[in-house]
Amino acid sequence: MEYSVIILRFDPEKKRSSYYQEFRVEAAPHERVLDVLLKIKAEQDSTLALRKSCGHGICGSDAMLINGENRLACSTLVRDLHSRKIRIKPLPGIEVEKDLIVNMDSFWKKYQDIMPYLVNHQPPPDRERLQSPEEHEIIEEPTRCILCGACTQACPTAWANENYLGPAAILKAYRFIFDSRDQAGTERLRRVASDHGIWQCYTAYNCVEACPKDIDITWHITRLKKASIGL
Ligand code: FES
Repeated sequence: MEYSVIILRFDPEKKRSSYYQEFRVEAAPHERVLDVLLKIKAEQDSTLALRKSCGHGICGSDAMLINGENRLACSTLVRDLHSRKIRIKPLPGIEVEKDLIVNMDSFWKKYQDIMPYLVNHQPPPDRERLQSPEEHEIIEEPTRCILCGACTQACPTAWANENYLGPAAILKAYRFIFDSRDQAGTERLRRVASDHGIWQCYTAYNCVEACPKDIDITWHITRLKKASIGL
């Protein structure tokens, strides 16, 4: 089946603003958008720039705007787009470095700001620090996050406020704040409840729709809001 693949191109070394380029590609319905992009790169235009690594929805490096929704190219089958036209753009609301590659520096800076690591001042046990299945259940859903950025770049607050921590960093904070083994919950809660944190979330639910791992991020942000009252 032939698909019309329209990609928003941008090359900082060329003196022209971004533009759409159409490619005609033969693809089977069960092929992924990532397969289509790699076919274009191999057979039609080797200058096409994109990020990908695992190819299986684990590394989070190939989030992009596909037919109007932030998705992982490696987890999106062309048949699921229900159209012979596939429009692909880089993630919105973030600086584009080249074609489908965006600058994630500010995303990672916010991630660092919430202390994305376990803090425990007790001497480490001989083996790992254990938690019960019930304790793990509380943080199980946030641990599925692969940090692809699809949620943060779908969020209207993040588009409007470059300082907003964004759903991905806030969800990571939740994962540690409610971890039974962690001892820095209050400090983290203080950070996510700051001027550019959870209270900037207006429950648009865009993050929930964009998440390729079906995490109810808004529910977790709401739980953090409740936990932060009385800080
Ligand atoms: Fe790793 Fe898609 S390439 S998540």
